[in-house]
Amino acid sequence: MPKIPEFISLPNHIAIIMDGNGRWARQRRRPRIFGHRAGIESIRDIVRCSAELGLEVLTLYAFSVENWSRPGGEVKLLMTLLADYLRGEKQELMDNDIVLKSIGRANDLPPKPRRLLRQVIAETAGNQGMVLNLALSYSGRDELARAMTRLLEKSRNGGFPGKKVSEADVTALLDAPGLPDPDLLIRTGGEMRVSNFLLWQIAYTELYVTDICWPEFRRRHLYRAIREYGKRERRFGKVK
Ligand code: IPE
Ligand code: IPE
Ligand code: MG
Repeated sequence: MPKIPEFISLPNHIAIIMDGNGRWARQRRRPRIFGHRAGIESIRDIVRCSAELGLEVLTLYAFSVENWSRPGGEVKLLMTLLADYLRGEKQELMDNDIVLKSIGRANDLPPKPRRLLRQVIAETAGNQGMVLNLALSYSGRDELARAMTRLLEKSRNGGFPGKKVSEADVTALLDAPGLPDPDLLIRTGGEMRVSNFLLWQIAYTELYVTDICWPEFRRRHLYRAIREYGKRERRFGKVK
């Protein structure tokens, strides 16, 4: 097993926008899906490494609501890859004591990945280690709109007697209410944007963008990001 480095400060929660699969494949004159397939290897490495480091939560942006508008063939292959990943990784998740969760519109997924997702979530629910949180058919605005819809329903049913909505009320109605906000958001593939990811939760998250495309992102790149995070001064609007 590779030696685990010691960091000045380790984030509790790292969120990653796994971008650049298509460009990585194109650079190699291969179809985009070749990049998606190669990206699965990065997921395996980063999940295992994060669990070894002792992270509390790792959130991976795997598929956005907007990604449904990609060509049908690409979407179909991504869904097949998701099903294969869930089937193939169940044992690995169990062996590493990882709890699987998901955020987003899981009901939009095709039956096979949806069923496997439900199964693996149920089977890993009793584990005690890191939470692997997959953002699937996820968009931040959509999550917030659904949280507001839940609030409306609660209010109608008398389950929300208050007159004002607090930040804690909103947080409690998000898809994974128990998780801490991310400390570090990593984006691979070089784009300087958040692409509708975790809009509420990243209010004070440290951002880290690397030009490395996702299929090439390995534990040494994660270590680099965590080392950089350790140098940041998080002020939360206060003065030092
Ligand atoms: C990220 O890689 C994977 C998904 C969005 C599903 P892309 O497919 O967006 O790759 P690029 O950004 O086009 O290179
Ligand atoms: C963000 O990447 C979504 C995921 C990584 C799943 P995109 O490639 O979809 O984002 P844009 O289009 O560059 O903003
Ligand atoms: Mg992209």
